[in-house]
This record gives sequence, C-alpha cells and structure tokens, in this order.
Amino acid sequence: MMRPDQHRRPLHRVITSLQNPTIKAVRALEMRKVRRETGLFVAEGASVLVTARDHGWRPKTLLYQPEAAEGEIHRQLVQWARQSGAEILEVSEAVLAKVASKENPQCMLAVFQQAWHTLPEPREVKPDAVWVALEEIRDPGNLGTIIRTADAVGAGGIILIGTSCDPYSREAVRASMGSIFAVPLAKIDRDGFLSWRQTWPGEVVGTHLAATEDFRAVSYRGPTLLVMGSEGPGLSDALTRACDRLVKIPMAGKLDSLNLAVATALTLYQIRGPHLKL
Ligand SMILES: C[S@@+](CC[C@H](N)C(=O)[O-])C[C@H]1O[C@@H](n2cnc3c(N)ncnc32)[C@H](O)[C@@H]1O
Repeated sequence: MMRPDQHRRPLHRVITSLQNPTIKAVRALEMRKVRRETGLFVAEGASVLVTARDHGWRPKTLLYQPEAAEGEIHRQLVQWARQSGAEILEVSEAVLAKVASKENPQCMLAVFQQAWHTLPEPREVKPDAVWVALEEIRDPGNLGTIIRTADAVGAGGIILIGTSCDPYSREAVRASMGSIFAVPLAKIDRDGFLSWRQTWPGEVVGTHLAATEDFRAVSYRGPTLLVMGSEGPGLSDALTRACDRLVKIPMAGKLDSLNLAVATALTLYQIRGPHLKL
C-alpha cells in the first residue's frame, strides 16, 4: 500500500548532474531538429500537465523538484505518470533551473509524444464546425495564442500550411496554456491544401487586407474554414483565390494590419459567437 507522502521520497536518487542521459535528452528537445527526429516535446507546469492528463495524454518522462512540488496536485501527477509507465526523475533545483524555461520557471515538466492529425474528411466535419488554416505562420507565440483561442471557441482544429513555426516549441506550448493538448493539429504543403480544400463541405473564408466585405456583415453558415495569412507577406495569391469569400476587419488608425493572433481571435469569435454561452 502506497503512503500518501511516498511520492516525495526519491524514486531513484535525486538527479544533480546535467550529464544524466535523460536530462540531456530533455534539454536536447529545445532544438527543433531533435523534436522533429524524436517526435517528442516538453510541457511545463502542474496546471498544464493537469490539462494533458484530463485530455487523456500520457507522459513519457516526468521531471520534478521534490521540495517545490509538494502539493496534492503534484502527488496526483506523479501517480498519473507512474500509471502511464513514464520514467520519473526527481531533480535538484539547479538541474531544473537548466531544464525548465527561464521565464516563469515551473517545478515540474513532462515529455510527450507529438500528435499530428490528418486533415478532416467531409463526413467528420460537423455542420457548425470551424477549422482554422494558417499559411506559413512564423511566430510561435502567435501560434500558441491561436491554439488557445481555437480551444476557447470550440474550433475543430488547426491546419498549418507550408513552412510554419513549430507548435511543439517551448514558446508555442507555453503560449497555448495547455490547449496544445486539446486542439487537433494537422500540417500540409500548399498544393496538398489546395487539393484537400476542394473536399471542404462548407464555406472557405479568407481574411485579407484588400477585402471589401466587413467581417461582421457576413452570416457564417457552417461549416467554415477560416484561412489566415502569414505575419509578413499576408495571404498568398494561390490561397486568396482558393477562398469562397474574403473579409476584412475594419481599422480606424493608420496602421497596416492587426497582429495575426488578434485578427484570428476576432474572426473566430465573430464566426463562433452565436454558439458560445456563458
Ligand atoms: C500581420 S497580417 C499580414 C500583413 C501583410 N502585410 C498583408 O499585407 O497582408 C497577418 C494576417 O492577419 C490577418 N489580418 C490582419 N489584420 C487584418 C484585417 N484588418 N483584416 C483582415 N485580416 C487581417 C490576415 O489574414 C493577414 O494575412
């Protein structure tokens, strides 16, 4: 029978060396190349890990600093990791400081297998669904914020088109605040997207600075595929032509455009607003 405080006792010795092979492997996941090769990523913080657990994810590795992770929630997370068959390491404060992010460091982090979804088949798309397609998004902070907003409005998922930043980077995962575990993600090149787009059972709505239709004037009848352009160049001509409709968010000032994540959030709330209740 396990004692309630048993998680606080080292499962092995407390790891104090950065040369420990697991610590080295977790640190290597800061590199995109290593994330691509291994298909793994890191998520930090107890509340984010609770979201992962609640969405049925299972960690491969759990690291925590025992003196800082003493709460009931930490105990439950260690138990979840154990039941998942994860490797569990107790680490010193100095080791955790090297492995965890410098901003807002957490006392617990875990490694997971990435989950890439296929693009939805027409029969999988619900009548009131909205999916978001992002062309060549560059900024992981924007991507994490969009994942979080897509979760908030109950979007079906996000499609990354072309060469994009990595949703499983530390910055994107952090900005998603746990929604990385909730929102299906798919990726495809531009030609693949243009051919899949023919199968979309509803309207394809692009946001464009040259559009003449106010995004608030449209009656969005689902399912809607919302297409957003890249931070720098905006929507390419090929994707612009692939849209059934182009909309613009009015702006009063002399600015060129809104931030991509802000524009996505405004449009998603316009589309999904009628379906959301407090
Ligand atoms: C930072 S903007 C790109 C600006 C780029 N210079 C351009 O000409 O499109 C990134 C994306 O956000 C969306 N966006 C930003 N502001 C918008 C607005 N006022 N109306 C419609 N879409 C907007 C568009 O999808 C755009 O491609």
